[in-house]
Amino acid sequence: SGPDPFSPTGQSVDVSAAERAQGGERLTTAQGLRLVDTDHSLKAGPRGPVLLQDHHLREKIMHFDHERIPERVVHARGAAAHGVFRAYGTATTVTRAAFLAKDVETPVFVRFSTVLGSRGSADTVRDTRGFATKFYTGEGVFDLVGNNIPVFFIQDAIKFPDVIHAGKPHPDREIPQAQSAHDTFWDFVSLHTEATHHTLWNMSDRGIPRSFRTMEGFGVHTFRLVDAEGATTLAKFHWKPKAGVHSLVWEEAQIISGVDPDFHRRDLADAIEAGAHPQWELGIQLFPDTPEQTFEGIDLLDPTKIVPEELSPVQPVGVLTLNANPVNFFAETEQVAFHVGHLVPGIDVTDDPLLAGRLFSYLDTQITRLGGPNFGQIPINRTHAPVNDMLRDGFHQDAVHSGVAPYKPNSLDGGCPFFAGQQEGGYRETPVQVPAARKVREAPASYADHFSQPRLFWLSLTPVEREHVIAAYTFELGKVYEQAIKERNLRVLAEIDPYLCEQVAQGLGLPVPKPVNSLPSVEPSPALSQLGHTWPTT
Ligand code: HEM
Repeated sequence: SGPDPFSPTGQSVDVSAAERAQGGERLTTAQGLRLVDTDHSLKAGPRGPVLLQDHHLREKIMHFDHERIPERVVHARGAAAHGVFRAYGTATTVTRAAFLAKDVETPVFVRFSTVLGSRGSADTVRDTRGFATKFYTGEGVFDLVGNNIPVFFIQDAIKFPDVIHAGKPHPDREIPQAQSAHDTFWDFVSLHTEATHHTLWNMSDRGIPRSFRTMEGFGVHTFRLVDAEGATTLAKFHWKPKAGVHSLVWEEAQIISGVDPDFHRRDLADAIEAGAHPQWELGIQLFPDTPEQTFEGIDLLDPTKIVPEELSPVQPVGVLTLNANPVNFFAETEQVAFHVGHLVPGIDVTDDPLLAGRLFSYLDTQITRLGGPNFGQIPINRTHAPVNDMLRDGFHQDAVHSGVAPYKPNSLDGGCPFFAGQQEGGYRETPVQVPAARKVREAPASYADHFSQPRLFWLSLTPVEREHVIAAYTFELGKVYEQAIKERNLRVLAEIDPYLCEQVAQGLGLPVPKPVNSLPSVEPSPALSQLGHTWPTT
């Protein structure tokens, strides 16, 4: 053991000498056998056939042949950095999470990503960005697995395979690599109009960030915070970049995609290397934990909705500083495994059905991606808290467990200290009331409002930003082949704003669709109307 190469604070983690590759001075095989030559196969004479008995050749090529692991099914392309999170202590009134207590410093690892492109795709495409943070807290790992857009395409995780299938390259030619411009994506979002809000954010300047350093991050879902007495508050997490929010313009994004497809990862690594350590403030929006789980008429369990900051300000709770680049992309950026179910005492989940699916999905996909159930032992994923679990064996098991009784309580391995100590500091799920209900495949009525918040976002934009949105829709829909899909998307735009629809229709050379009477069946919350925005009357 010794200072942890993966920890910027040098916190000690037991990394055995064997895991520290390239420690010795001499080249060896994987078995530690010293080699005299790694450039020539063993042959029967200089021009003769290669011999099967060349164990070094066999090992070297065998290992190379298996160097690749599957890329992430989404968020395949990413860049990451180490850092530290320092809490202000302002959240202690609402959560007992120890890492949020005043001046506590927690090592973190943050991975930024695009969603749809493959590992080798370009950085500056129009897409959502992932913003995933692993906090190595003294109480276990807490992962805040967010995006740079505060809402999501769908309200129920059962549609996740569908929206991703629609967004990924077409299955026949695997074109295009990015979210931009393809029929399946625009087909999906016009047939599932709950996607309107997220899509509009994508078509705004938020879809083409200038840098990871100038992106906001959002936990999207509503979480439940629990204080020391067990009182609960609902909360949404926000990351606010100290450098401000900045985007590219579309022409820049396109040129950079060609000239420097690594633009964002280069920018992040260079900034950190130059000592310009990027910073974000973590903030929370708070809402009373009422049985309805709504705030000012907004359904807090609907991940396609935000709560405007005018109605609930973001309250700063700490600051994140990224201060060290990974030393090995594969070991750290590629093998890191985030999971929304990695929680610490003081932070709990809510019944958002999208979150429920994520709670299942991350571990499940990582079994395939990281080759079995023991990926928690990979150095970048290891908790800095002591581990005493009853998980045993399996592929890539690195731990050597002692004892004979991997079950609790037992009377063979020193009694059951687990039970003696568990009352203090253990994670307890909040005993929230589950409604007495019949089993249904249905959404709540409030989920039917697909347009009031996109309109709110549109109205919040400056004239220049609106021009960018119009240009983005015109460009993207201009690349769609099927006329019917273009027309259906124009009808969606008509629901957001007549001017937006008109301008895009004009750009596409298509007639403006007649106003359709499919306004939200649920009235937008009165609180939103108080923000001074008018609602569509068509
Ligand atoms: C990966 C965010 C919804 C499944 C990721 C990553 C982020 C993210 C940031 C990349 C993690 C990394 O850097 O390694 C989000 C957000 C969502 C959302 C903010 C909605 C609010 C979903 C849903 C599902 C899902 C609904 C499935 C039901 C996955 C999977 C991965 C992933 C399978 C790949 C994980 C891996 O291979 O390690 N997501 N996601 N996500 N997400 Fe989500």
